[in-house]
Formats: sequence, structure tokens, C-alpha cells
Amino acid sequence: MSKAAFAVYVFDAYGTLFDVHSATARERGRLGERADRLSELWRLKQLEYSWVRSLAGRHRDFWRLTEDALDFAAARLGGIDPATRTALLDAYRTLDAYADAAPALARLKAAGAATAILSNGSPAMLEAAVSSSRLGDLLDAALSIEQAGVFKTDPRAYALVGARFGVGPREVSFQSSNRWDIAGAAAFGFRPVWINRAGQPDEYADLPPARVVASLADVD
Ligand code: LAC
Repeated sequence: MSKAAFAVYVFDAYGTLFDVHSATARERGRLGERADRLSELWRLKQLEYSWVRSLAGRHRDFWRLTEDALDFAAARLGGIDPATRTALLDAYRTLDAYADAAPALARLKAAGAATAILSNGSPAMLEAAVSSSRLGDLLDAALSIEQAGVFKTDPRAYALVGARFGVGPREVSFQSSNRWDIAGAAAFGFRPVWINRAGQPDEYADLPPARVVASLADVD
């Protein structure tokens, strides 16, 4: 890659750098055929809670929402024992990084760009995930929205990037697998790149991505 096209490349964490479904995958033996449905419902509720709390002005950090969402999903699907709950939450702290994450970060840094995470995750969540995946040397910052006290897609969350790097939105390429996050980034003024890992249909037509790619390998 020649010189990076943007000064800063920012990445959503969960679903983009880290595989949220790797937690239940590790505990498939305990969960059986419920594993995939539990993981989907766990993720949906975790996100729903972030949006409801930000709209209502009743912030609770993303780790609490992750616990609350697991408890709902488990209750909805017949319950899990305390040992399984603990194992799932421990796994969520150290989710697998996608295989394309480290090579993409290394390539962008070699091209002179700054790289960062911007995530709903609490500082402790991000520290654990970055440490266990050994991505720390490839990231200039891991920004938690906790500094803003409000979740994405609130513009105050995205504004943390400019405050940290001293750049305007147009100098930032923002990568996320979450199409709703791409909508928020587009509204804020970043160059939004949708990592459409799951081949989902598009939505938020008035807030489009600048690029749509299937993996981080195609980010430029
Ligand atoms: C994050 C979640 C929302 O990392 O994917 O912010």
C-alpha cells in the first residue's frame, strides 16, 4: 500500500475487529443447539439497551448491558446455570479477533496512518480484548465512548476521535460491520466503510457508506 489515503483509520470493535459469536462458540458444549440463537439474541439486546439508554439519558456502561443482555437471552431460551453464565462472560472479555484484523492494521500503519478503536465497550472491556488478541502494538488508541457518557450513534461519541487526534471528520476513515454504526458515522461526516461480513442487505439509504467491502483486507 502506498501512503494511506486518510490520516486516521478508526474501527468499531465488536463485530468488526472482534467476533462477538466466538463467546458462545467456545461454550457450544454447554449450550448445545441453543448456542447460535443465544448469541444472536444476546447481541441484539446488548445493542437495543445501548440505544434505549442513550435516547432516555440513562447511561449504563456496555459491560453492564452485556451482562443484562445475556441474562435476558438466557431467560428467553430456557435458562443457563451460573457456571455457564460466568464462562460466557469470561469469553466475552477475550473474544477472538478476526483473522483479517491484525494484517489490516499493520498495513495501514506501515502506510503512515494512525489507527484506533472507537467502541461502546468500556475501557476495561477494550483493554482485555486488545490485550488478549495482541492487537495493542497495531493501535494508536482504543477509545471508549465512556469518555462521552453516551453510546454511538450520538455525535458526541464520534467526536472523541477528533479530540484525540486533532483531525476533522473528513480526515477519518471509519470502519464498522454494523450498518447502523455506518449510518451514524456518515451523519457525523467520517468516510464510512461498511465491512459487510455477513452479506446483509443495505438499509439507512440516506446515510450511505462510501465503500462496502467483505473484509478488512479490502480497506484502503
Ligand atoms: C462497538 C459495538 C457497538 O464496538 O460493536 O461499539
